Amino acid sequence: MATSSTTVTITGAGGQIGYALLFRIAAGDMLGPDRPVRLRLLEIPQGMRAAEGAALELQDCAFPLLHDVEVTDNARTAFEGCSIGMLVGARPRGPGMERADLLAANAGIFGPQGEAIGAGAASDVRIVVVGNPANTNALLAATAAGDVPADRFTALTRLDHNRAVGQLTEALDVRPDEIDGVAIWGNHSATQFPDVSHATVRGVPVVDALTERLGDKERAMAWLDDSFIPRVAKRGAEIIDVRGSSSVASAANAAIEHVRDEQAGTAWTSAAVVSQGEYGVPEGLVCSFPVSSDGSGYRVVEGLDLDDRSRARFEASVSELVAERDAVRELGIL
Ligand code: NAD
Ligand code: LMR
Repeated sequence: MATSSTTVTITGAGGQIGYALLFRIAAGDMLGPDRPVRLRLLEIPQGMRAAEGAALELQDCAFPLLHDVEVTDNARTAFEGCSIGMLVGARPRGPGMERADLLAANAGIFGPQGEAIGAGAASDVRIVVVGNPANTNALLAATAAGDVPADRFTALTRLDHNRAVGQLTEALDVRPDEIDGVAIWGNHSATQFPDVSHATVRGVPVVDALTERLGDKERAMAWLDDSFIPRVAKRGAEIIDVRGSSSVASAANAAIEHVRDEQAGTAWTSAAVVSQGEYGVPEGLVCSFPVSSDGSGYRVVEGLDLDDRSRARFEASVSELVAERDAVRELGIL
């Protein structure tokens, strides 16, 4: 019996991240070798030629799992029947900008797209927002989506999670798959809190492994505070500084892993989800937490201890999310 295909909508498909996403999705990297896909590529008129060119190249790859590609500049058409929506299309920041500087420029995109999702997406729709400021854009889309349950909307902090693992592999001289339990709390911004207090390497607490490697606990804590946390939190700016433009392949990879693990299930990763009040975060904010999935959507891992310093860092990032929410309210967009 033929397997039915899953409709995946990608906004900003003619842009940099779009180009890094499409071919891997069509090759089966996101949903696996047994799930064919139909791709819906949404662009604005200026981006249509780039998206159409990508569609021609997709055809030239003759991917067995790719059942259909449609390019459109109409959000209603793009989200009709959509089961997985990847909201990438937005302006990226340049050197010297913070992601929140994009609030006004990009906020106008996500309300209308949320409405289109509410109007026509499939009943099992799940959305990941990549376009910055990702958390607050996800809040806007979720709010505009009418009857679609808010918990179907998430924002990407898997890139930050992977960056944290990458820094630890270098510091501890281990492989990425030997590290478990890293967590990103808060906003996808420089205020985020990359947390290793529940993380282990080969089953040993990361703090103990760092203490062993650096000589004493004081040095281990200083490395975490002065190197690890700021490096991960500001890695987006570092990439912009070195490359001259924002991250692309690593962002696309993280978005694929976010959707793959949400759909296939995972015991632990990081994602920004709509708060239901967990850890005291105001309800409705789209906030990053450690999460798990049984295949039916991300849920916050509850019951973790956060010491006073950790809680202060997390609360600073949550305050920024509150300020972003209030700013879009003032703009009249929320
Ligand atoms: P890009 O400029 O190369 O591509 C963006 C594309 O979006 C363009 O082709 C543009 O035409 C299109 N677009 C703009 N408005 C649109 C709309 N209303 N509907 C559909 N398409 C629209 O940028 P990029 O490098 O691909 O980055 C895209 C976004 O992803 C940026 O906001 C960037 O900051 C963000 N980003 C987020 C993360 C993360 O971890 N959350 C990581 C990297 C980049
Ligand atoms: C990133 O983290 O690389 C992206 O959010 C792009 C940016 O503006 O930092």
